[in-house]
Formats: sequence, structure tokens, C-alpha cells
Amino acid sequence: MELNKISEGKTKIVYNYDQGHVLLRFKDDITAGDGQKKDILEGKGVINAQTSAILFRLLEKSGIETHYVGMMDERTMIVKKLKMIPVEVVLRNIATGSIVKRLPIKEGEVFEPPIVEFFLKDDRLHDPLINYSHMEYFKLLNRKEAQYIEELMLKVNEVLYNFIKNKGFILYDFKLEFGRLGDKLIIGDEITLDSMRVRDEKGRIYDKDLYRKGADLNTVKNAYEYFLSKIMS
Ligand code: C5P
Repeated sequence: MELNKISEGKTKIVYNYDQGHVLLRFKDDITAGDGQKKDILEGKGVINAQTSAILFRLLEKSGIETHYVGMMDERTMIVKKLKMIPVEVVLRNIATGSIVKRLPIKEGEVFEPPIVEFFLKDDRLHDPLINYSHMEYFKLLNRKEAQYIEELMLKVNEVLYNFIKNKGFILYDFKLEFGRLGDKLIIGDEITLDSMRVRDEKGRIYDKDLYRKGADLNTVKNAYEYFLSKIMS
């Protein structure tokens, strides 16, 4: 089938499919630091597509709508065509990553309730933190929509956290992106080890932090594969 490319990001390519759907092809690229560090991790596209599919199906089963429709092949997802909003929404259960650099918060502090943050997707500006006023000013989300998304993030967290806990891991944080379909706001993009932080009880890392911190590619791949094998069973 002749595929018509709509856009290409750092780790995924979007192709036209039919009127209401696009294809999302997961590449083997792994990147960090707004694309400054990058490598090819053979097979990662398949692992991430499969991981995402499992977690999207889990959310759908729990009554949370996502863009997921089905799989075209092992690394290509059929998804609803959304008008994506260039905002990254992060939920944090346990402090690590950018928040401990930005605020007087110690690594490992537990957030109860979890903290939700919004970031503008802009590699050049390193995805700055934004608030309701900024989102209204840029016509990204109005206050009511932003509050709806915050509530949805908490619901998603309940589902993901418990599922992942049952598999023997702790969900530290995750990032979602949203898009518009008519007047609905729907979860798009991906849910993978590139976009969430997962550790085990001993604090061992299974997510992209391994790559960010300079682990060799094999270690990263093994962690991604191990996590996928656990959530598949
Ligand atoms: O770097 P930071 O601590 O803000 O990341 C919070 C969460 O969002 C992490 O799970 C990280 O993997 C994810 N994230 C992402 N894409 C980005 C920045 C962060 O998926 N551009």
C-alpha cells in the first residue's frame, strides 16, 4: 500500500489512512535532550508500539477514550485523526527529573495528591512549563478544558499506577498529549517507556532515564523488553 506521509517526529511517523484515521509508525530512534542525543535502537519501534497498544487498550477498557483503534502491523498503530494540541501534560507521583531541578523538592518525595504540570511543546525553548493563563493566551486550552485534563490525568494515573504495580513496578511519572476530535479532548500520541518513568521496588530504572543517564543501548533495550514482557503476561 502506498503510504502518504503527513508528518515525521523524532520517534514516530504519521501517515494518512482514511478520512477519520491516521497511521502512527514507531521508529527505532531513541532521543534525549530535545533531540541533542540520538541513537538507533533496533527493535525499539516494535517494543514501543506494543507497549503503547497494551496501555491504550487498558485505558479504553477502563472507560477512558484514547485515539487507539488497532494495529496495522507490529510497529504501526491505526489511530483516530486528532487535531493535536502542542502541550505535554505530566503527572508526577514521585519526584524525579525536571521538577527536582526547578523547585525545592527532593528526589523521591511522594506527591499525595499527584502533581500535574503543563509544558509547551517547543524543542528550541526546551519545552517550558506553562500555566492556565499561557494556555488561554496561546489559544491552546481554556481554563475549563485544562481542569478537565487535570482530572483525566488523575483517572489515567489510577488505572496505570495500579496495573503497573501489579506487574511489580512503580510508576513515578508519565506524560500524555491530547488532541481535539469535534468538541472532545482525547488522549493521543503514545504511552511508552520514553514517556513515563518506571522503577522497581529496589529503585532499578526501566525507562528512558537509562538512556538519558548514559547506559549502553543493550541495557536500555533489555529494560524496555523486560517491562513489555511483564505487562504482556
Ligand atoms: O523531564 P521531566 O521530569 O519533566 O519528565 C516528566 C515525564 O514526562 C517523564 O516521564 C518523561 O519521560 C516525560 N517526558 C516526555 N517528553 C518530554 C519531556 C518529558 O515524555 N519532552
